[in-house]
Amino acid sequence: MTRLRHILCVSILLIPMTILALSTSVLSASRDIKVFNYSGKIRHCVFIRFKPEINETDKKAIYFKIFALKDRIDGMLNVTFGKNVNKEGLDHGYSDGFTVDFLNLAARDRYLLNAEHQEAGASIVAAAIEGRRGVFVFDLQL
Ligand SMILES: *[C@@H]1O[C@H](CO)[C@@H](O)[C@H](O)[C@H]1NC(C)=O
Ligand SMILES: *[C@@H]1O[C@H](CO)[C@@H](O)[C@H](O)[C@H]1NC(C)=O
Ligand SMILES: *[C@@H]1O[C@H](CO)[C@@H](O)[C@H](O)[C@H]1NC(C)=O
Repeated sequence: MTRLRHILCVSILLIPMTILALSTSVLSASRDIKVFNYSGKIRHCVFIRFKPEINETDKKAIYFKIFALKDRIDGMLNVTFGKNVNKEGLDHGYSDGFTVDFLNLAARDRYLLNAEHQEAGASIVAAAIEGRRGVFVFDLQL
């Protein structure tokens, strides 16, 4: 009898405790989400596995074509080029890359449709190992 009461008491206590624990974790998770508000900007990230015969001068010539579009495409904010400096061995051979920041998705789309960008894109693919497979593109919302 006392044993049954004990079990009942424990279960009665456990139910509100579980509800409390669940609601606190849901609340803290939604608080975290609220803190992170997207600005609408896009960081267009391009990572490249260049063919071994592509030297630094060739790379600069390609990057220059991208950089030259900065002041010509409305909403194209910034271009940054560089080599991978990560040491975890997770780069899968994508040793070079660049990012372009855009004011919004519309600016990113103007860039994608721009004829000079498409020309620069074609030279990147031509300089990459296995063509399109040697280029990795990821557009991150900021
Ligand atoms: C995020 O956006 C919401 C809704 O517009 C706003 O209430 C909140 O204050 C914003 N948070 C930050 C950290 O800007
Ligand atoms: C880089 O390679 C190009 C051919 O792709 C060649 O014309 C140029 O002389 C090379 N530059 C250097 C610095 O090796
Ligand atoms: C572009 O990036 C450079 C270097 O990080 C920075 O100094 C500059 O303020 C940036 N320009 C814009 C328009 O975001």
